[in-house]
Amino acid sequence: MALDRRALDGFWSEAQWQRELTEPGRLCVGLVNGAELLGFACGWLVIDELHITALAVDPQHRQFGCGGRLLRALLQQAHQQGARQATLEVAADNAAALALYAAEGFTTTGRRSRYYSDGRDALIQWLELPS
Ligand SMILES: CC(C)(COP(=O)(O)OP(=O)(O)OC[C@H]1O[C@@H](n2cnc3c(N)ncnc32)[C@H](O)[C@@H]1OP(=O)(O)O)[C@@H](O)C(=O)NCCC(=O)NCCS
Repeated sequence: MALDRRALDGFWSEAQWQRELTEPGRLCVGLVNGAELLGFACGWLVIDELHITALAVDPQHRQFGCGGRLLRALLQQAHQQGARQATLEVAADNAAALALYAAEGFTTTGRRSRYYSDGRDALIQWLELPS
């Protein structure tokens, strides 16, 4: 919850985190340094499609490769459990996240107009995983 507040301005409530960490079909990986949680990546596996629901790195540990490691670990876990595609929505002005997804092979396949409550558009990201 503390990292969620620092990295994502409080994206999920405690109840949402409980669900993400316990419900079948939900995947969540964390990157730790000793007792410190540096980042997390979460998703929801629907048949063979991974819906990535959150990815964040502590602001003090960004641009050191943590985001890429988390994303690859989540994709690998999902692939082992049968995922063949991965998708997510990202704010159209989130340059850091868009660059990260592009670096990992995602492509932009669509735009959801005014997807976020503040009026920003979302870009749909898509990745085909090896069959
Ligand atoms: C997006 C986020 C997870 C990236 O984490 P990170 O640990 O900084 O990412 P990495 O260090 O692994 O960067 C991997 C690649 O992403 C791109 N990237 C990351 N931060 C960037 C930035 N600020 N500007 C431009 N490109 C950036 C680069 O291509 C980078 O590769 P390079 O270092 O070889 O150039 C992090 O900025 C974050 O937590 N942002 C807030 C939450 C968020 O927006 N999550 C995504 C929601 S969809």
